[in-house]
Amino acid sequence: MAGVIDIHCHVLPGLDDGPANLPEALAMAGAAAASGTTMMVATPHIDHTWRVRPQLIPQRAVMLQDALRDRGIDLQIETGAEIAISRLTELTRSELAGLRLGSGPYLLLECPLTTAAGDFDLMLRAIHSQEESIVLAHPERSPLFQQEPARLQRLVEAGLLCSITAGSITGVFGQTVRRFSIELLREGLVHDLSSDAHDHFKRPPGIRDALASAEPELPGISRQQEWLTLLAPAAILAGEPLPPRPSRNDRPR
Ligand SMILES: [Fe+2]
Repeated sequence: MAGVIDIHCHVLPGLDDGPANLPEALAMAGAAAASGTTMMVATPHIDHTWRVRPQLIPQRAVMLQDALRDRGIDLQIETGAEIAISRLTELTRSELAGLRLGSGPYLLLECPLTTAAGDFDLMLRAIHSQEESIVLAHPERSPLFQQEPARLQRLVEAGLLCSITAGSITGVFGQTVRRFSIELLREGLVHDLSSDAHDHFKRPPGIRDALASAEPELPGISRQQEWLTLLAPAAILAGEPLPPRPSRNDRPR
């Protein structure tokens, strides 16, 4: 099987609510590799809670990559960030450049998990007028979009991409999130599946098998597995147009 690219995970040690130290980060990265993931884009929170200094991200990534190599774990670590919209405007141009996903143009922006951010989508539209390449992190978990899916649809039509969390499909965050995830997959509004992993046990990495759990509602959705976990994320990291999405109904030739 070809590789799996995880563009949203908290695998760097000692920065946010991901692993506290290098051994924990290694356990998490090892679990990811064992599950078939070949590349992780480390995306620490850049927000007002954790106050991660952007300069630390590449240093920790090199440390983790070296430790993985020493242990013979075949996993490539790239860097990015999960940026809270409230922090975005405070970042300098050069800080922002270092926070993009891989070496590509995209910023991963965190969708709020509370209903308080009523005009989040309007703020996004304003940001999008200056920042063309935006991936939304876990919009399926955002009450704003659950209550008014058309708001998310308009953002996608404007060119924003959606990355949903694998655990949302399997039911980790409850039935409301699961149902909405399946609706988004049905409507073709999902461009990437990632782990948003934080550790190796409670919120573990590994995204390869999540889509299969949507098969009862969306027969044939597994045909989009490679697109959602390898081809589309690779295009995002390269800043290239996304390849055509396979139909759920494609028949093998
Ligand atoms: Fe996250």
